[in-house]
Amino acid sequence: MTQDIAPRDRLIVALDLPTVGEAEAMVDRLGDAANFYKIGLELTYGGGLELAKRLAKAGKKVFLDLKFHDIPNKVARATAQVADLGATFLTVHAYPQTMRAARGALSNTPLKLLAVTVMTSYDDNDLREAGFALGVRELVARRGAQARDAGIHGIVLSAEEAAGMRAVVGPDMLLVTPGIRQADGDLADQKRVMTPARAIAAGANHLVVGRPITQAVDPRAAAQSIFREIAAARA
Ligand code: C5P
Repeated sequence: MTQDIAPRDRLIVALDLPTVGEAEAMVDRLGDAANFYKIGLELTYGGGLELAKRLAKAGKKVFLDLKFHDIPNKVARATAQVADLGATFLTVHAYPQTMRAARGALSNTPLKLLAVTVMTSYDDNDLREAGFALGVRELVARRGAQARDAGIHGIVLSAEEAAGMRAVVGPDMLLVTPGIRQADGDLADQKRVMTPARAIAAGANHLVVGRPITQAVDPRAAAQSIFREIAAARA
């Protein structure tokens, strides 16, 4: 099973902050309370790739949430660039051609690919409007199986979908779940949330947590509290 993951690497802190300066200040504040950071589109276009390199050099792990989707040649070459940055995770859209191209570009790098099956902002009507015949549930399951068949390492999905996806993809793929809130946490704009303990019990391998840590009065204490809940759930 792929589940042999260091406990401190199960928590991924989403650095959803507008500037590299704010992101670096957050990384400094968290110190050894966080080891794995997600950098998304906003921060990437605000200097986040240089930050990703610095974090990797400093021994932190980096999840670049760039959701690649382009013609195979472009996907392959961009994936190789991300591998050279020293990133640990990269997202790609779960189109078979895109996934195969990204997978083929990894050669012997430690970079792992995560598939985004269907964006959680989409419902069945949005898929129909975009020309798809399948509904969300069917398309998520189909793309999960296609990701596994393409040799993709994991899938980003809500914790509510984790158990169902585990049945589709088997024990070896990583399930990475955002939408995590501790029992007393503020939901912000997340509608479907799970506690860290329940997400782990549902089969999640890594939890992505943003605002509950980055907007906390004491981010370090918040990260430590979530980490303790994850560690207890694994015990
Ligand atoms: O602040 P919060 O913990 O809600 O942040 C969750 C992170 O996970 C954000 O970076 C968000 O973009 C990401 N995410 C999500 N829902 C998805 C996919 C990714 O919240 N379906």
